[in-house]
Amino acid sequence: MTMTLTSTASAGTTLKASAAEKGRYFGAAVAGQKLSDSTYVTILNREFNSVVAENDMKWDATEPQQGRFNYTGGDRLVAHAQANGQSVRGHALLWYQQQPGWAQNMSGSPLRSAMMNHVTQVATHFKGKIHSWDVVNEAFADGNSGARRDSNLQRTGNDWIEAAFRAARAADPGAKLCYNDYNTDGINAKSTGIYNMVRDFKSRGVPIDCVGFQSHLGTSLSSDYQANLQRFADLGVDVQITELDVMSGGNQANIYAGVTRACMNVSRCTGITTWGVRDCDSWRGSDNALLFECSGNKKAAYTSVLNALNAGPGITPSPTTPGPTTPGPTSPPPTSPSPTTPPPTTPPPGGCTATVSLNSWTGGFVASVKVTAGAAGTNGWNVSVTLPSGASVTNTWSATASGSTGTVRFTNVNYNGQLGAGQVAEFGFQGTGSGAGITPTCAAS
Ligand code: XIL
Repeated sequence: MTMTLTSTASAGTTLKASAAEKGRYFGAAVAGQKLSDSTYVTILNREFNSVVAENDMKWDATEPQQGRFNYTGGDRLVAHAQANGQSVRGHALLWYQQQPGWAQNMSGSPLRSAMMNHVTQVATHFKGKIHSWDVVNEAFADGNSGARRDSNLQRTGNDWIEAAFRAARAADPGAKLCYNDYNTDGINAKSTGIYNMVRDFKSRGVPIDCVGFQSHLGTSLSSDYQANLQRFADLGVDVQITELDVMSGGNQANIYAGVTRACMNVSRCTGITTWGVRDCDSWRGSDNALLFECSGNKKAAYTSVLNALNAGPGITPSPTTPGPTTPGPTSPPPTSPSPTTPPPTTPPPGGCTATVSLNSWTGGFVASVKVTAGAAGTNGWNVSVTLPSGASVTNTWSATASGSTGTVRFTNVNYNGQLGAGQVAEFGFQGTGSGAGITPTCAAS
């Protein structure tokens, strides 16, 4: 993505207007039950143009029993956002905390399958409605190791994070996919561990678009806070401040201003979210960590954020699809995932072709299939795949499967059957066993 620095003369009078003038969003975490509190909702809709569920999209909320999904809270927030012109951050598909009891009790390959199914199902449910997903939250350890945090998720194999990103991309290709963490408020061992992972993902074509910096802050701000954001941006990902709150006291307004300035100074910093609206909404108890008093009055920290937004340089995000056109100097250029069959360079003469890209782990896989129409276009298509013995399809999206073992035939759904010459439709499926070597055959009607 290319960004252009611009300068604007006018000054906004709300957080959302000022951020929007600079090409950014300003968001808040929302607790579902607060949507019936009118003081709360008045501030939320006046000041914020992005929302994130404080708890309602977490694993324990969305899949309380295995395979039984509950989207009541998440859907309510999305409806509120759509009615009020707010974009939605999705938080969080996989996290070692707030897992339902059944997942906490699982391990190994059954857990890996359950994790990937969760990612696929939830991202599919909210498809087209989420600006950015926290695909993976808090996977790195605190302290000096720079290593992954031990967890049941991590014990399914080190590739769980990339598998989750691939599954999320397949399920909702329009959402930006973020890695999100805390204690990453400067250049330190933990943020460097994450930096190395993101660099590796970019070099291998793992679909990651953004990194979230939670920024639960105390009484000081690291002098290299901005430099840390910038080094991630230079890898070719967007950065976002995702859960900002700051300990009250003499420095609160200055720290809020410092974080806002840092974001404004990094052209790939696309938005700021505070973790709540008023002090009494905050998970941080008596820290008085947010921008509004319980009464709804604006605090000094509010004014300092507004001023920093108004003073900052603007960006004009280019309307192209995610992905950098120029990688940062320290990173190798991103490569696209290598499909097991190469994509055609020119539309085939008739019919259609299909290519598959596989994301496998021990005991399971997600296949993303690209269908390309030939010169005559299609009214409908079907793709046949012969699975190795022992493998079976457990879940399909954007196509209908007939059969689940042996030769499985995937037929278009009503919205993706008609393709013009050279146009592409994408569908996917998840399976147990191995998907190694599968070769799709496409037929058009
Ligand atoms: C917190 C919520 O604010 C609380 O209501 C809940 O009890 C625990 O989780 N990092 C995250 C957030 O990514 O999901 C956490 O939210 C705060 C820390």
